[in-house]
Amino acid sequence: MLFLAALLYLTLISIVNAFVCTNDGLFANPLDIHSFYQCASGTPHLMPCPAGLVCNSDGKLCDWKPTEPIVDCVSSQKVNCRATTRWATNGHVIVGVDSESGRDSQHLNAPGGIFIDTRHGNNVYVVDGNNYRVQKFLGNSLASDGITVAGGNGNGSDPDQLKTPVDVYVDANENVYVGDSSNHRIQMWPKGATSGFTAVDTEGTGEYENRVGYFHSMFFHEKTNTFYLPDVFKKRVVKFVNGSNIGTVVVGQDGDEFPSKILYKPTGVFVDDCETLYVADAGGSRIQKFLKGSTDGITVAGDYQEGSNVTQFKQPWSIKVDQYNNMYIVDTFNGRIHKWGPNDNAGVTIIGGNGFGDQLNQLWFSYYMALDSEGNIFITDYGNHRVQKFDIQPEISSC
Ligand SMILES: *[C@@H]1O[C@H](CO)[C@@H](O)[C@H](O)[C@H]1NC(C)=O
Ligand SMILES: *[C@@H]1O[C@H](CO)[C@@H](O)[C@H](O)[C@H]1NC(C)=O
Ligand SMILES: *[C@@H]1O[C@H](CO)[C@@H](O)[C@H](O)[C@H]1NC(C)=O
Repeated sequence: MLFLAALLYLTLISIVNAFVCTNDGLFANPLDIHSFYQCASGTPHLMPCPAGLVCNSDGKLCDWKPTEPIVDCVSSQKVNCRATTRWATNGHVIVGVDSESGRDSQHLNAPGGIFIDTRHGNNVYVVDGNNYRVQKFLGNSLASDGITVAGGNGNGSDPDQLKTPVDVYVDANENVYVGDSSNHRIQMWPKGATSGFTAVDTEGTGEYENRVGYFHSMFFHEKTNTFYLPDVFKKRVVKFVNGSNIGTVVVGQDGDEFPSKILYKPTGVFVDDCETLYVADAGGSRIQKFLKGSTDGITVAGDYQEGSNVTQFKQPWSIKVDQYNNMYIVDTFNGRIHKWGPNDNAGVTIIGGNGFGDQLNQLWFSYYMALDSEGNIFITDYGNHRVQKFDIQPEISSC
């Protein structure tokens, strides 16, 4: 009896674990990212991936792309899957091929912030500054025409207009949030809407001291429903909960004089899953990192002196951090993207650094970049009125 029960149990287990071929073809193995199933005439054959490759979260079979690591805010013992990764040095232009400004769907005029919606097919959203609009490019068809998803109704302060759009964020429901700097507002355009509404009035109703006038970028931390703005004139970072006009100063309080407590000219912010705040302090030629709740910054990139060597920056305007804590810094006046690993004491130029110009390996006053889910880098090239994509190079790693 016991034997029969055990047999039944084992049979059930093997049924639960057995892969059922719904069609012939190749399928990810739901139980192991290092192998996949080949279904032939309805029979599954388990096939191993070549060493180091995995089936990634998009269901691509045996890709070199590592899967997302589990966030661990306590220990920093994360394996860095992109420690030595490199990117193609020539970009592909996805919009603005002729480096001319324009208003049609294949042109931009002074592009700014860029966001890649990794939850929806890596769709690319670009702030098109002097056209007072945000353009969307489909991730699966990057060269196709841009679609206006916010603004596009001239320079102004009406709900359907933008005045100085600087940055863009897209939430899980594809609603678009635009940092509309000189209108002192974050304007939300619900998905598909022809007009926006003000989600945050940054000059708001809170204490006068906590109001933000002009800002150069915006970061939305969706987990905590909070916007972070670098307040360039008051030299600090202020946060606003979505839907509230009451700002709270996060770092850079008046009165502190220690270099670790102050910011010289904050232009970019990034907040990771552990609520670690990174500030691109363009005026301090450095990147400051603040652990959650701390107002004491740690310089994690830059040696404080403006310059062009491996430890220096010239106006590091914005920063992105990947899931392994590698930092990607848009080093605007050096015309390059610098990558620093989480414990590095020097950076590596991965893109640009070839002077200003319109060649495919050059940037001409770039201020913003973004990473897609595979780690490809997209850069808005302000002076060339274009967006370039730089492909990540395959690398066999143990991740
Ligand atoms: C946008 O309009 C404002 C007035 O509302 C004006 O001061 C500003 O120069 C205009 N911007 C451009 C680029 O024309
Ligand atoms: C932000 O707030 C608006 C209302 O002001 C709301 O419609 C939207 O869903 C909120 N966004 C998120 C990501 O919660
Ligand atoms: C970078 O340049 C500065 C100033 O000339 C110098 O002090 C520093 O040692 C240089 N760093 C490296 C790594 O070359």
